[in-house]
Amino acid sequence: MALKIKISPANKENFDEIWRIFKSVISTGETYVNGDETTKEEACAKWMNKSAKTFVAKIGDEIAGVYLIKPNQVDHGSHIANASYIVDENKRGFGIGKSLALHSIITAKELGYKAMQFNFVVSTNKAAVNLWQSVGFKIIGTIPQGFNHKVLGYVDAYIMFREL
Ligand SMILES: CC(C)(COP(=O)(O)OP(=O)(O)OC[C@H]1O[C@@H](n2cnc3c(N)ncnc32)[C@H](O)[C@@H]1OP(=O)(O)O)[C@@H](O)C(=O)NCCC(=O)NCCS
Repeated sequence: MALKIKISPANKENFDEIWRIFKSVISTGETYVNGDETTKEEACAKWMNKSAKTFVAKIGDEIAGVYLIKPNQVDHGSHIANASYIVDENKRGFGIGKSLALHSIITAKELGYKAMQFNFVVSTNKAAVNLWQSVGFKIIGTIPQGFNHKVLGYVDAYIMFREL
């Protein structure tokens, strides 16, 4: 049965759940650069930042995923969007990530961005690489051994890009 996913702007009350989901992801050391020692305040500065637009995916009243969109650079680089995404580890494989990706592409267009760029997709993160490729992103660069993976050691990271 297909899940009914509702995506809406995040508010302050959502942050505890966002923190729970983010904390669980960074504890693996496999996908995000942020380390285990990242504090709740630092996470709040990332996910609830004024220059970012943050959205949550809910199934019923439960937050199952989150993404944020923000300018990739200031001023002369601000026409390109950057984004971050996480789906709760217990809710993966049900299409929530794809829904967030497609929603973010529409949102980025509506906000007037010309393109989207992911600066750091860990090459061994097959779920993410496949998902981004399935919605039109291309690998435009490789940072050799750019990520210190908790299990695998140094692995490449990709820069991925899509015009809007
Ligand atoms: C990447 C992530 C957001 C995907 O979310 P998800 O809800 O599981 O993804 P979906 O169910 O929507 O799957 C969409 C597509 O992603 C790819 N995908 C998802 N899980 C995959 C897996 N385990 N292996 C390979 N491809 C996978 C497939 O192309 C899939 O399409 P398909 O179902 O038609 O084959 C999720 O795994 C996650 O939060 N990972 C940890 C944080 C992270 O890596 N964020 C991205 C950083 S760049």
